[in-house]
Amino acid sequence: MSEQDDFKRAAAEKALELVRDGMLLGLGSGSTVRYFTEGLGLLVADGMKVRGVPTSRATAEIAAANGIAVVEEIVGQIDLAVDGADEVDASLSLIKGRGGALFREKLVAAASKRFVIVVDESKVVERLGAGVLPVEVLPFLWRTTAERLAGLCSGLKVRGGEEEPYVTDNGNLVLDLSFEDGIADAPALGSSLKAVTGVVEHGLFIAMTDECIVGGPNGSRVLSRPI
Ligand code: A5P
Repeated sequence: MSEQDDFKRAAAEKALELVRDGMLLGLGSGSTVRYFTEGLGLLVADGMKVRGVPTSRATAEIAAANGIAVVEEIVGQIDLAVDGADEVDASLSLIKGRGGALFREKLVAAASKRFVIVVDESKVVERLGAGVLPVEVLPFLWRTTAERLAGLCSGLKVRGGEEEPYVTDNGNLVLDLSFEDGIADAPALGSSLKAVTGVVEHGLFIAMTDECIVGGPNGSRVLSRPI
């Protein structure tokens, strides 16, 4: 296991301390939160009773393989959702979706009383947008959606390429937007993206995260959202 994997595991193990018997949990997607889901499986094997709402088909399979009861329809709120991120800034705004699950991840985050992010320290950035910003779009007339989005970024590519584009769990495409100088105003960009016809959802998560657990060489540290 690499050092980065150790850091991911440290963050995920800290998040497991927040789990209580009887909770309805949001289960994120990606390699970091996988450690959380697998650890949760061990708690379930020890007798803890929880249910999980998965943010992707891949996570649903991991949860089921680890003995966690999976639900996809809920009434009320999720008690605690734990997910990974691609970039986190000091205000705990995020870029998510490089694994392609951003829409369900955002739905689960929005339905949760407490949204906790687990990352290794390489994900903590001063300004969002050094890497790509994923945007999920409807396949129908997607090139016209891409043209409308082009004015909001420095460049964009359809994930997987035009020949065989990547298709999300929701049957949509992902456009990866790039920003030469990063993202200057993430909330404003989020609003602009949301207003583009053809956009299903974007990977900016603004003012949604309650805490971010960062795994590093000294174990884990918790960042709370500034008030
Ligand atoms: C999935 O769509 C993403 O939002 C992931 O949560 C994010 O890419 C983090 O993944 P890793 O933990 O694998 O870096």
